Amino acid sequence: MKSWSRKEFLKASLVGGGAALIAGQTRLFGQVAPAAGSANGDVRVAVVGINAQGAGHMRDYLNKLPGARLVALCDVDTAVLAKRREECEKAGVKPETYTDYRKLLENKNIDAVVLGTPNHQHSLQTIWALQAGKDVYVEKPLSHNIWEGRQALAASLKYTKNIVQTGTQNRSSLDIQEAIAYVRSGQIGKIQWARGLCYKPRESIGLTTGPQAVPATIDYDLWTGPASLTPPRRNGSKGPVHYDWHWFWNYGGGDITNQGIHQMDVARWFLGENGLPSSVMSLGGRFGYRDDAETPNTLLSVFNFEKAPLIFEVRGLPIKTGMKAMDNYRGARVGVVVQCENGYVTVSESGTANIYDNANTKIKALSNGGNGAHRANFVKAVKNRKVAVGLIEECHYSTALCHLGNLSYLVGADKSNAAIAEAIKASAPTTEAYGRILEHLKANAVDVATTPTVLGPLLTFDRKTEMFTGADKVVVDAANNHALRKRVGRGAFTIPQLA
Ligand SMILES: NC(=O)c1ccc[n+]([C@@H]2O[C@H](COP(=O)([O-])OP(=O)(O)OC[C@H]3O[C@@H](n4cnc5c(N)ncnc54)[C@H](O)[C@@H]3O)[C@@H](O)[C@H]2O)c1
Repeated sequence: MKSWSRKEFLKASLVGGGAALIAGQTRLFGQVAPAAGSANGDVRVAVVGINAQGAGHMRDYLNKLPGARLVALCDVDTAVLAKRREECEKAGVKPETYTDYRKLLENKNIDAVVLGTPNHQHSLQTIWALQAGKDVYVEKPLSHNIWEGRQALAASLKYTKNIVQTGTQNRSSLDIQEAIAYVRSGQIGKIQWARGLCYKPRESIGLTTGPQAVPATIDYDLWTGPASLTPPRRNGSKGPVHYDWHWFWNYGGGDITNQGIHQMDVARWFLGENGLPSSVMSLGGRFGYRDDAETPNTLLSVFNFEKAPLIFEVRGLPIKTGMKAMDNYRGARVGVVVQCENGYVTVSESGTANIYDNANTKIKALSNGGNGAHRANFVKAVKNRKVAVGLIEECHYSTALCHLGNLSYLVGADKSNAAIAEAIKASAPTTEAYGRILEHLKANAVDVATTPTVLGPLLTFDRKTEMFTGADKVVVDAANNHALRKRVGRGAFTIPQLA
């Protein structure tokens, strides 16, 4: 393959066709949608779900995204909505406000929606926006489950008048794009494995004794949307509804799907695998404390791709008991390490990258910058009617990988550590990572001899049907019937079947 100079590379990777060559972007790359009514003026944007991440988007539209104008806000929590409206008014902007997203979509004076709602809303809200003729920036992950992500992707292929960019912001990192080009040039040999790391501190969310009351300011039916309508069973520092939904299967997928999707996406991008793996196996648990949450705070998932394995590690516990700091793997805490025959690449949480030889000497320090331009790239995409970075198809696959990792864990069983060591001994990368997990748990005062760990089965997967296959019908059915594989939604929040 041609070896690219930095200048050539940057030229090609600017929003446009060139990046497709190096980035393994799939067929939606460069998709051109017809011009929107707003093409000659500012893009009129509504931000939906404005508690934390959405509030960041809102502030960027107020302060630093030329060519776009904040015209509406939506949140099902009237307290959040009032707080954000006040913030806007202080900045001299008076957005229209909505609690029901469906009403917002009826407003013809809105060109684009930015979705900062919880994961379980993303696919349906994307589909509805496209059906209403709006452009969409949907936060990561694309979906709560594999099937609904596929429906959102199908919607983007059906309603081609509008565009969708996903919130996987590392796609806008020129450093990562250049590092991928460097690896593909073959200068440090073939990829042996790609490792995504999510070592992020996650403390206990506390323990309640039963269902918690929903604050009167929240329309809980709207908040629940396509998920199952059940009272919240959590009440930590974020209260009974917001943010900690990440740790409950009805809404989120734990940290692999929360922070980890970013690193999953980068790792898969390096591999150049434009689809899902043939098999997956996970192990892990929620260790170190007892609280209300359901998702593991320690998870190892190994995805078997044709080119090389993708290994993903989640750790929510610190280096050792009593510390706040987190471990790192070759300098990366939340990041990616891509091992090639003659060297490796590290990618940081903010999307900067470095390249080393196998003696750990830096052979290339990249300085094009991390992932900061992603929101501006959305405004460009709306104006150009063309998505250059953050394609929905890519986000579907990377999100689905997170769901696959969780599904192996979810249909697994508690095993002794000796039984796990025996079961995984044929897989060198799994055995190596498991050894480090045991050391980490010991440092956190977890008695690894007596504390069982969940060992998930090696699940084989059909990339075309996006379903599990295999001889063990009980396990395969359990995985296929799990809500993280497919959930159709609820009543008025039923996800349209488009694929
Ligand atoms: N790209 C990134 O780096 C990044 C960083 C943080 C969060 N996120 C993503 O952003 C999303 C939001 O995260 P958060 O931490 O702000 O969560 P949060 O729970 O704090 O806030 C979500 C807000 O959405 C509102 N909401 C829920 N359902 C709604 C609906 N149907 N219509 C309108 N509003 C609704 C809630 O009331 C709440 O105010 C998540 O999906 C998360 O994964 C992305």
